[in-house]
Amino acid sequence: MTDLDSAEPTRREFIYIATGAVGAVAVGGVVWPLIDQMNPDASALALASIEVDISAVEEGQSITVKWRGKPVFIRNRSAKEIEEAKSVPLDNLPDRNARNSNLASDAEATDENRAVEGKENWLIQVGICTHLGCVPLGDSGDFGGWFCPCHGSHYDTAGRIRKGPAPENLLVPPFEFVSDTTVKIG
Ligand code: FES
Repeated sequence: MTDLDSAEPTRREFIYIATGAVGAVAVGGVVWPLIDQMNPDASALALASIEVDISAVEEGQSITVKWRGKPVFIRNRSAKEIEEAKSVPLDNLPDRNARNSNLASDAEATDENRAVEGKENWLIQVGICTHLGCVPLGDSGDFGGWFCPCHGSHYDTAGRIRKGPAPENLLVPPFEFVSDTTVKIG
């Protein structure tokens, strides 16, 4: 188990919830033979969703889960973090695109468009720097979000690139809340 989200995580931040991923793999194993004969792409898709129990992630904490072989950061943002992200004018953003797989491709990078209405405390994003693919560190950088030490990219509390060579905001993957405490990614 590896926490990829923070340089010096506290014990609580070390929560790594893999039960959803294990469940998804188990289901995938059952359906694999049938789907595999039909279409390999479909079989890959069947393995591509995970359900994550986020009930133990308290405000100000993050967990990292693995989805399609990539780290995904799930952060329960504090009110202060949300407020900071909302206060940033779009003109200050190097990348004004929301990069949110759940929205239209031209959606703007407002804080609202980086999260989900009514659950704006939850920020879910692929933990791969959009510069050259390193895994950024959480609770770091000049904007209180994530920092990629590889070449110095700073992301804010909405995962938007603010400074450094990364060209795009961290990607928000397809996801939906299947309950108040469970999120399905993929
Ligand atoms: S890979 Fe992140 S700054 Fe270069």
